[in-house]
Amino acid sequence: MTKPEQPRHFLTLMDLSPEELRGLIARASEFKQMQRTGTQHTPLQNRVLAMIFEKSSTRTRVSFEAGMAQLGGSAMFLSPRDTQLGRGEPIEDTARVLSRMVDCVMIRTFAHSDVETFAAHSQVPVINGLTDRCHPCQLLADMQTYVEHRGDIAGKTVAWVGDGNNMCHSYIEAAQRLDFSLRIACPEGYDPESAMLEPAGARCEIIRDPQRAVAGADLVVTDTWISMGQEEEKARREKAFAGYRVDRPMMQRAAPEALFLHCLPAYRGKEVTADVLDAPDSVVWDEAENRLHAQKALLEFLLHP
Ligand code: CP
Ligand code: NVA
Repeated sequence: MTKPEQPRHFLTLMDLSPEELRGLIARASEFKQMQRTGTQHTPLQNRVLAMIFEKSSTRTRVSFEAGMAQLGGSAMFLSPRDTQLGRGEPIEDTARVLSRMVDCVMIRTFAHSDVETFAAHSQVPVINGLTDRCHPCQLLADMQTYVEHRGDIAGKTVAWVGDGNNMCHSYIEAAQRLDFSLRIACPEGYDPESAMLEPAGARCEIIRDPQRAVAGADLVVTDTWISMGQEEEKARREKAFAGYRVDRPMMQRAAPEALFLHCLPAYRGKEVTADVLDAPDSVVWDEAENRLHAQKALLEFLLHP
């Protein structure tokens, strides 16, 4: 098995150039078309993806596992409950060992520094399947979804309503990479990290009032108020975010052709009302499906078969 000296990793959207990102989104739509027409494309025969999940997942696990199978390879699910990682084997050692056995590693965990440490000691590409800091795979699917429904996102206005969390951070990076404006409506105390916001400059703006943030926006996005690992903050968070629920009157302030996205899982009646989530301008099911196609494009890009 030949492995590149310096593997490319996908830990944040900033690991791809704007051109690479656009190419990947276009390729994701090609993969979708192939799936629709039943065209088989199996360039990853005999390749293995290891998937380390330290947090729960439905979409990320299934899309990576199905994607690898469809590309001719295979994927294995590893949880800290069953591996020595859960008993304290260092991340560095795990990275050295796994990357001698498999062709790519996907990690979903808490501290972003853990995926960085893993990548620094891995001989094979490492993919961030969500950390407390960001969720770049989700943004590939989100951007593919917007482009498929409305064309280029460059020059558009996106409103992020809710928590300044990992998804918000990845939107801040997407705005820089794909050239759109991002209005972030979050309550005080729940801002995105300033280290993420600062490089974006005027492109990303915090607007406390969600009604003002969504006015005329081309895309409205939200996410759960309580991310994985924040369960104990539930009561405090639900109080703080009470005015930040995306409902029909709020969507009506957006542009007439505005779309609604949510990475899912969604909590109807909390961050979004059921009528918004289930309306025709909500493209969340396409967004979820696109995880599969976008990640197949990513695997092909990183493993260059
Ligand atoms: N959106 C997303 O990453 O979903 P899962 O937590 O189900 O993987
Ligand atoms: N912000 C959420 C995203 C889930 C896909 C979380 O981290 O739990």
